[in-house]
Amino acid sequence: MKPVLTPDTHQMQNRSIVLIGLMGVGKTTVGRRLAKAMGRPFADADEEIEKSAGQTIQDIFDHFGEKAFRDGERKVISRLLQGPPCVLATGGGAYMEAKTRAEISTHGTAIWLRAGLDELVRRTALRNTRPLLQKGDPKEILDKLMCERHPIYAQADLVVDSDHGPHANTVDAILRALAGT
Ligand code: S3P
Repeated sequence: MKPVLTPDTHQMQNRSIVLIGLMGVGKTTVGRRLAKAMGRPFADADEEIEKSAGQTIQDIFDHFGEKAFRDGERKVISRLLQGPPCVLATGGGAYMEAKTRAEISTHGTAIWLRAGLDELVRRTALRNTRPLLQKGDPKEILDKLMCERHPIYAQADLVVDSDHGPHANTVDAILRALAGT
């Protein structure tokens, strides 16, 4: 049977899918799987920043500070959004920058991946590569970031919870949410 394409679906096909949300929600893992399911290229903004800077994110924060990282992040995301439609996983702070947010809303469909605090604490403890979580108690830091960021993340086009079951469930939930747009 031929798929039904509404005008919105047509419009969406030319736009990148941009995953936003806090550290540990699964943007990269879910993004890779989603890209595969949609037959699109996948890009990870953090990886691209590291590639273009030739340094890890931790090194960029240590040597140049967060502001320089945010500038680089904005440029990299802007470049990726000019390319062919892809699935793009962004770092947790990217959508907080007004210019980056505007670029995402012009060129992409923003999907907020959301998870509860305890799940984020559990998942972020698996890697110690996130400079913002090295500055104190990760649970307190994530709790504070939740309060600051969730109201902004709520501007995304769609919100999908990512703390129920395996990542494959989240991919299915995103595909269903996209089909409903
Ligand atoms: C950050 C999240 C990180 C990375 C950097 C800053 C943030 O990405 O961009 O450490 O401000 O929340 P992930 O969300 O992919 O961990």
